[in-house]
Amino acid sequence: MTDPTRARTGIPALTPRRFPVTREANEAPAAPREVVFALAGVSVYYGGFQAVRDASFEVASHEITALIGPSGCGKSTLLRTLNRMNDLIPGARVEGAVAYQGENIYDPDIDPVEVRRRIGMVFQKPNPFPKSIYDNVAFGPRLHGVRGPALDDVVERALRGAALWDEVRGKLKQSGLSLSGGQQQRLCIARTIAVDPEVVLMDEPCSALDPIATARIEDLMQEIKHDYTIVIVTHNMQQAARISDRTAFFTTEVNPDTDSRTGLLVEFDDTSRIFANPSDERTENYVTGRFG
Ligand SMILES: Nc1ncnc2c1ncn2[C@@H]1O[C@H](COP(=O)(O)OP(=O)(O)O)[C@@H](O)[C@H]1O
Ligand SMILES: [Mg+2]
Repeated sequence: MTDPTRARTGIPALTPRRFPVTREANEAPAAPREVVFALAGVSVYYGGFQAVRDASFEVASHEITALIGPSGCGKSTLLRTLNRMNDLIPGARVEGAVAYQGENIYDPDIDPVEVRRRIGMVFQKPNPFPKSIYDNVAFGPRLHGVRGPALDDVVERALRGAALWDEVRGKLKQSGLSLSGGQQQRLCIARTIAVDPEVVLMDEPCSALDPIATARIEDLMQEIKHDYTIVIVTHNMQQAARISDRTAFFTTEVNPDTDSRTGLLVEFDDTSRIFANPSDERTENYVTGRFG
């Protein structure tokens, strides 16, 4: 990518690994794709409670990967394992391997702050800081020492990248909280991309937005996936079908001894296949609305 922001912030890009994906014999050979995340046997616990059991799948570069499934199946939990946000929850514990660009991000010598810079996150409810529009976007770059005209450039670039520049260019000093919900969410996306991440994680980013604002965010995701890799949690199956390239479907299974529910990955595949021709009956029941 030829983004001058990366050069300006002086943060080195990693070299992704390339290897081919296994395909069924009757399918056309796929072009090699870059594996950004490889999860192997990932389980997540909150204290003694197991929220996710033994999830394994891969996230490819410059794709949108959707995590779907019923409430409580561990989608948000798993998303947070991708940038070590679960570290911030007391009692949370991750087992298994989460390789990012081939490195286990849970290795003791990995800096979680750097992990979160490379792997940004956008939340369900837009959460701008009670600061100006400019200062919201400038927050992260300032922490990295960007100052002066270079900072103005980074802010403009991020706001353009989040399709918000034209709406706010004349009022950068106004509070971020004065914007509409949809604009606030695009401001949060601008704030996230301003530190030049490689991955953007999104946890139900449209669930607090009206349909028009949702459509704008969906369009924006299609645009920015050329620059970033996106993993999105959505409870909206139509959204997953519309925007994602690959989909992971999770469900919960009841543990009869404790009557608790643990999330597990049922099926991971091309989105078109998950919705048109899933291989697991549980996926079929869910995507056709027959989930019981
Ligand atoms: N901070 C937490 N502490 C304890 N349990 C949690 C915490 N966050 C989530 N859980 C539990 O983990 C399970 C998965 O939750 P979550 O990842 O939020 O599911 P989803 O996003 O699919 O709705 C649920 O049973 C939930 O109650
Ligand atoms: Mg959730």
